[in-house]
Amino acid sequence: KKKMTITSIKKSKGNKPLVMVTAYDALFARLIEPSADIILVGDSLNMSFAGKSDTLSATLEQMIYHTNAVCMGAENSFVICDMPFGTYVNKDDALKNAIRVFQETNADSVKIEGGVDKAEIVKHLTSNGIAVCGHIGLLPQAFRSEGGYKIKGKTEEEKLSLIEDAKAIEKAGAFCIVIEGVKADVAKEVAKSVDIPLIGIGAGVNVDGQVLVFSDMLGLFEEFTPKFVKKYLNGSTLVKDAIKNYKQEVETGAFPQDIHTY
Ligand code: KIV
Ligand code: NA
Repeated sequence: KKKMTITSIKKSKGNKPLVMVTAYDALFARLIEPSADIILVGDSLNMSFAGKSDTLSATLEQMIYHTNAVCMGAENSFVICDMPFGTYVNKDDALKNAIRVFQETNADSVKIEGGVDKAEIVKHLTSNGIAVCGHIGLLPQAFRSEGGYKIKGKTEEEKLSLIEDAKAIEKAGAFCIVIEGVKADVAKEVAKSVDIPLIGIGAGVNVDGQVLVFSDMLGLFEEFTPKFVKKYLNGSTLVKDAIKNYKQEVETGAFPQDIHTY
């Protein structure tokens, strides 16, 4: 498999939808790599992996640890590491922390949530050798300040501000943008307003690619399923049935058999 680059990712716009999946460890990264164009080490790992209720308490140390694991499992994948909440509140912090990601892992890019208000920070990173993926629309790191997860693009004003956000992040030098939780017709217009790929999650089909959290798409995360998730596997049922089967065989002495015995 040929690893994508900033250039090939940008060129894919209008040619082929980009396939992005999250991963948090080498095991799953290895399974995801053959089909994914881009692997995202999302701060969603704070829920899926660490069991917290939102992304806000994820730390840079955690992101670096998981990004190293993913890079070990998927050496031929373009890997993006989420900058966690509180690590890019100003230009200097953002650069210092993004440099840590680049020096301590093999990540190809970092991802930052925010639009016009974060453009200056994105510009500071891109002009100092850090490739940046933007993230606009519903911003999970604003969960507490917005009082929940709010779908964007419901008014003309929101549509115009999403377009401004995308343009500002593109101008700041980002090579692609994740657009989350946006009405499909609006996401389509936002995608048309910039030359870099817009990768959607809960943003409909008329964008330049899709991203899903692996534990959602594999049906492993049972707590709740957002409308935009399609389950490509009944993961939790399969895993629970397998463990139950193992339990029964251990308790009845059916496992191990001769073939499992030295
Ligand atoms: O953290 C994450 O997994 C993400 C995706 C939902 C885009 O940011
Ligand atoms: Na994230």
